[in-house]
Amino acid sequence: MSTIEEQIQALKKQRNAVILAHNYQPGPIQDIADFVGDSLGLSIQASKTQADVIVFCGVLFMAETAAILSPKKTVLLPDITAGCPMADMITVQQLELLKQKHPDALVVCYVNSPADVKALSDYCCTSSNAVQLVSRLPQDRPIIFIPDRHLGQFVADRTGRSLILWPGYCPTHLKISPEDIEKARQQYPNALVLAHPECGPEIRRMADELLSTGGMIRFAGQSKVDVFLIATEEGIVHTLRRKYPEKTFVPVSEFSICPNMKKITLEKLLWSLQDMEYRIEVPEAVAIRARKALERMMEILPEG
Ligand code: 13P
Ligand code: SF4
Repeated sequence: MSTIEEQIQALKKQRNAVILAHNYQPGPIQDIADFVGDSLGLSIQASKTQADVIVFCGVLFMAETAAILSPKKTVLLPDITAGCPMADMITVQQLELLKQKHPDALVVCYVNSPADVKALSDYCCTSSNAVQLVSRLPQDRPIIFIPDRHLGQFVADRTGRSLILWPGYCPTHLKISPEDIEKARQQYPNALVLAHPECGPEIRRMADELLSTGGMIRFAGQSKVDVFLIATEEGIVHTLRRKYPEKTFVPVSEFSICPNMKKITLEKLLWSLQDMEYRIEVPEAVAIRARKALERMMEILPEG
């Protein structure tokens, strides 16, 4: 009797599939994936893979992005209910109204958004390249930034530009409290606090570094410091410990767990390959426009 991991590997070969996993995925999913990364890295992998099938271990907007970037591939999401509450905080109708209110504005859309909203946007970005992208936009144009107001405020602070923000947020990142940081700092006085820009304003002020998940991995590898307090979804602690076993990574909060990211299990991954479910397809009319915004996103690689 073969293990579930062996069955997944065998089916993956048979289907000519690649398994992509976000840094917030459960440990066993990260361990079996062909590529584990942040939103930008995963988009790039999805756009250049030679496989016939992409099994996306993440949430719906990520699988949709892969389907837009690789329209000829079959893209599977192992649990169709794995969504992102932040992405669902903005609709096409709401964005249309916002654009009518600011007709000269360029629209920068965080990749954590629905495909049809991306299609109405000029640029997509991830947390790893949002600052660089916005800083290159013409000074004489207003900028609408959707849907995360916290990432948007972080970008406004870093670029010195005033952005038109939307009140979206990530419920998981807002569970991290200033007391969590204070407590962790008392316990590990020599550690650095790495926080994600989706965190609320107090956490952003208290952090030593504000980084995307990919940025945290790069930073921890290059830093001389060897203890890090992690203020983002806890799944990345597995990624970091696996990559740098000689360093110490401590999640600051036991509550910063994204329930949607954790819906993917080894069983569901196996069934997904067995049944070729759940297929994620984006209507071509939407995909054509969203692809342009995503291609502009992928032209800007993070520094460092
Ligand atoms: P990154 O991996 O791009 O930092 O994204 C964080 C996130 O919240 C994904 O849902
Ligand atoms: Fe969405 Fe937040 Fe979960 Fe990322 S961590 S998928 S932004 S709810």
